[in-house]
Amino acid sequence: MGIEWSKKFSARSNSMKASAIRELLNLINSPGIISLAGGMPDPTLFPREVLAEISKDVMINHEGKALQYGPTEGVKPLIETIVQMAHEEGIKKVEKENILVTTASQQGLDLIGRIFVDPGDTIIVEAPTYVGGLQAFHASQAKFETIPLDDDGINVNILENRLKEFKQNGINAKFIYVIPNFQNPAGVTMSLERRHKLLELSHMYNLVIIEDDPYGEIRFEGNKLPSLLELDSLENVIALRTFSKILAPGLRLGWVIADKEVIKKLAIAKQGADLCSPSLTQYIADKFIRDGHLKGYLELVRQTYKVKKDAMLSALGKYFPDGCSWTKPQGGMFVWTSVPEYIDTDALFVEAVQEKVAYVIGSAFYPYGEDKHHMRLNFTLSSVEQIDEGIKRLGNLIKKKIH
Ligand SMILES: Cc1ncc(COP(=O)(O)O)c(C=O)c1O
Repeated sequence: MGIEWSKKFSARSNSMKASAIRELLNLINSPGIISLAGGMPDPTLFPREVLAEISKDVMINHEGKALQYGPTEGVKPLIETIVQMAHEEGIKKVEKENILVTTASQQGLDLIGRIFVDPGDTIIVEAPTYVGGLQAFHASQAKFETIPLDDDGINVNILENRLKEFKQNGINAKFIYVIPNFQNPAGVTMSLERRHKLLELSHMYNLVIIEDDPYGEIRFEGNKLPSLLELDSLENVIALRTFSKILAPGLRLGWVIADKEVIKKLAIAKQGADLCSPSLTQYIADKFIRDGHLKGYLELVRQTYKVKKDAMLSALGKYFPDGCSWTKPQGGMFVWTSVPEYIDTDALFVEAVQEKVAYVIGSAFYPYGEDKHHMRLNFTLSSVEQIDEGIKRLGNLIKKKIH
């Protein structure tokens, strides 16, 4: 008789959840489907020629270092570049010991779960929040507390009341996980006032803040706001950054900025996970920045995404019936759309795929799947024409359900 594998798996693995998005992506990869689902950058923009030249250069030069194992914390030139970028952002206190290069920010999330969360520990997340964050923290067997979002980001009054209740009941939340800029999935940005209030609460209640910011540089409208990291000057904030949306996700590179003690602990956890992130892509990303290509590329990304975002908002206005509403992002990659509560967007998804259009079901973005009348719409992958057609197909489906 063979092994009964299900009896061998750990409690930790049993608390892991398959990503609804990854499952859905399998479904929607058939030809002819307009995908407003995944969170993918526009591949036609990738600076392929420049990256190809740089790749050749870094492989041949640096005495083969780009093809060798590297330090767990990251290769020296890239760390220097990241420190420089942090200083330019206004975070002057950052030194190289405050940096850990990660295999993109998803690994940062996983490592944070490993070093902070014991089974059953409470953590606080925005509702809705990034599905990959939920996955990483589910794997740590965290207990989730959710705080709703509105157009100005997380509702800090509700958070304050919740923290008071926790204190009365002796609950110490390990951290709060927030995505302040062009939130995934909601597309909203935390106002400056709320950033200050969140930091005040963090200091009052001794609460660690995990600031995940993959989209901050992809602002195509409005004024840039200071990051929580900058406002707090490396005290209570652990910041996650990534090259995935500002350069290319295939590089699988990101970084954490935090207190030196946290970085040391994260580096130990990373050794057990992958020893080091790929030296090759670290040298490539570093040279791309040092040679001055990032600014121009970001400019192109911002211009292109703004046109696509405008196309999506205008299509929503044209094709979606009364009773639906949506956010109006000033950057990033997503629009979050609400439909009347009697329409179940989980069920609607199957019909949408039959109509050859896909979105991500809203329920994926809640730790316990508690919401079923939202959809996340991505505007970066598809062309303007596809966006218009995809939103038209979805609008027609929803119109049939409206009563
Ligand atoms: C909020 C957020 N965090 C983290 C990630 C993971 O990105 P990566 O691991 O490619 O850096 C994503 C990807 O979409 C995201 O939206």
